[in-house]
Amino acid sequence: MKRTTSELFLRVERQSGAPLRLQIERELRSAIQSGRLAAGALLPSTRALAGDLAVSRGVIVEAYEQLLAEGYLLSARGSATRVAARRTEGSLASPANPVVQSFRFDFRPGLPDFSLFPRRLWMSAMRRVLGRAPDLALDYPDSRGVHQARVALAAYLNRVRAAAAQADRIVLCNGTTQGIALLCRVLRERGVRKIAVEDPGHADQCTDIRSFGLETPRIPVDDDGIVVDRLQRTDARAVLVTPAHQYPTGSVLTSERRAALLDWAERRDTLIVEDDYDAEYRYDREPIGALQGLCPDRVAYVGTTSKTLSPALRLGWLVLPHSLAEDVAAVKLQSDRGSGVFEQLAYAELLERGDIDRHVRRTRLIYRSRRDALVGALRERFPKQRIHGVAAGLHLLMDLRPGSDEKGIVDAAASRSIRVYGGSSYYARPAAAPPSLLLGYGGIAEEIIDAGVSELEKVILGAS
Ligand SMILES: Cc1ncc(COP(=O)(O)O)c(C=O)c1O
Repeated sequence: MKRTTSELFLRVERQSGAPLRLQIERELRSAIQSGRLAAGALLPSTRALAGDLAVSRGVIVEAYEQLLAEGYLLSARGSATRVAARRTEGSLASPANPVVQSFRFDFRPGLPDFSLFPRRLWMSAMRRVLGRAPDLALDYPDSRGVHQARVALAAYLNRVRAAAAQADRIVLCNGTTQGIALLCRVLRERGVRKIAVEDPGHADQCTDIRSFGLETPRIPVDDDGIVVDRLQRTDARAVLVTPAHQYPTGSVLTSERRAALLDWAERRDTLIVEDDYDAEYRYDREPIGALQGLCPDRVAYVGTTSKTLSPALRLGWLVLPHSLAEDVAAVKLQSDRGSGVFEQLAYAELLERGDIDRHVRRTRLIYRSRRDALVGALRERFPKQRIHGVAAGLHLLMDLRPGSDEKGIVDAAASRSIRVYGGSSYYARPAAAPPSLLLGYGGIAEEIIDAGVSELEKVILGAS
């Protein structure tokens, strides 16, 4: 009869004729050599393993003693037996954590300051919702998201973003990225072949959309946002736009262009996908309401906590036209059976208590000071270069002198431990794009911004 353990997956075969102790030793030795049992792994007590394998405890004691003597196992007096470190260099040993490169001056765009994440608020909201939730809350959720979270979110978006959101047209998802992917799947199933995107725009979003077999005709952007006239010339059935703060140029879609865009959608029976990724952070002028609020049946609104809280949460949402809501919820169900319930409940709780409002108000002041420091430092050192998109968000774009070697500057900056991004990679044809630098100020301390720009100046002077 074969017997296996529940914790270790060791096999012993009584009919084989080989002594049980030898079989157990051999099994353990080869599990350690192959890396299946990793360094530090805890072994069951001799009593538990003997019970599992239905052998006498003395057999296990002897097997462990033999492997201790051979150096495969370690056991300090009074503590449990573990796998020794030096024997686990087998193929299954976990690779070391990849080293994340850190920069002295990190202007990586589009990220919040992780140290501002409201850990205590989040932890107490989690504790409260978990303590209060009935056992039923541990079932698979409604694929659209927990009802309470959708209600709280609808109220928040209507108040803060002038949206026209209803709870039953919201689908909570894993960030903007999944929201757009869900829309792509539904649109593709409905026969859509082209989704227009802004040029410049978010390069990864283009790649993602194309991965669903959709084409992405590029539509230019100017200081007034997407050039709607150019959209009229395509046969795209949907367009992905960033009206409140164009990514990456930062331009704001003017009211004329908004009207023209909505008119395009009405007349052509097409869909506008509104990526409202960083609209909470608007510094100088009145906030611009979401396009979705003007025409909820033509606009699929996509939002995220990636800027206000953290991209690690992977918590975002879609607010959908009536005609799409059911199909998108069905695709969400099919993709992953719904997003994490307790994160949604914790977020809902923070929304309801006004904690998110307070957090955004507080962080907005911090980011505005950083924005001011960066704009001031850039204007002083590069007085001739235009700076775009400073009114909102967590990044800005600075033109470089025509003919500048953008890539050379980005690389030289990196070699001096300064992280900046080249603007041309956001264009459909990078080689033809004007050279520019994208600088984020979300994650860099205000005190070192000036020094960072001063170092950057040296890099740019050295490259010209
Ligand atoms: C234009 C744009 N939209 C959305 C996002 C956020 O994506 P997600 O919500 O999937 O984190 C980003 C993040 O950098 C972005 O740049």
